[in-house]
Amino acid sequence: DDLERLAADIRRADTVVAFTGAGISAPSGVPTFRGDDGVWEHFDEGQFTYGRFQRDPAGFWADRLELQRAMFDGEFEPNAAHEALAAMGTDGHLEAILTQNTDGLHADAADSVASDSSETTLLELHGNARRVRCTDCGRRIDGDPVFERAADGDLPPTCDCGGVYKPDVVLFGEQLPGAVIQRARALARESDVFLAIGSSLVVEPAASLPRLAASPETTVGIINLESTPVDSAADIVYREDVTTVLPRLRDVLEA
Ligand code: OAD
Repeated sequence: DDLERLAADIRRADTVVAFTGAGISAPSGVPTFRGDDGVWEHFDEGQFTYGRFQRDPAGFWADRLELQRAMFDGEFEPNAAHEALAAMGTDGHLEAILTQNTDGLHADAADSVASDSSETTLLELHGNARRVRCTDCGRRIDGDPVFERAADGDLPPTCDCGGVYKPDVVLFGEQLPGAVIQRARALARESDVFLAIGSSLVVEPAASLPRLAASPETTVGIINLESTPVDSAADIVYREDVTTVLPRLRDVLEA
């Protein structure tokens, strides 16, 4: 079947790249952005722009804390889909994971397979929401103490140097770091198998990376519950749950 064919392509490939979005973390309890009950139904995207952060950092931070509470409330852990990708990495089947997610779950999954043998590169294209970065001195630190200060009314939270902290994520209206996006594009072009997983593929760079990968020599697969604008350019489309498809793919690769 399709999975056998995809597994055969992966075994033959020099470079396999996984590109993930909010859908891979949905089974861990992290809400998606779009679609039913997506966070952009409950929050106004326009309040989370880089322009707003610069104009009104205190107001931005107050709203940001609400958003983070809605997205990352309580304990959440990597699910079977994150784990399957991490296992493919230790098996030598995965060159890179490019993720739009800021939840840190791919890194957690890699840690939990606890192997030094994984050679998978992880690029967090939109940064990591667990960290904050000082907009003056550039220092990056764990976000928790800063989120606590902000929740206690210390708005906007500032660094020892006096600079304002910003969540270490890419905001709307902000460029992705040039080196990171260049590496992501190079990996997409280089890939022999490119899997887009749990992303609506409607915003940049998500909309263009799979198209960059697509060529007669490359197998492009899409795993997503809803259809995407890139489906017609893909070789294989699974309109299924990531926690069904990826563990099965890993099993077929192992067999
Ligand atoms: P979206 O919320 O746009 O899309 C998530 C997709 O995952 C949807 O198409 C769902 O159908 C699908 N999905 C949900 N649960 C799934 C499951 N269990 N199995 C398979 N598919 C599932 O999220 P992204 O594409 O990641 O940017 O959004 C891209 C960017 O837009 C985000 O990184 C964020 C957002 O605004 C910034 O914050 C800069």
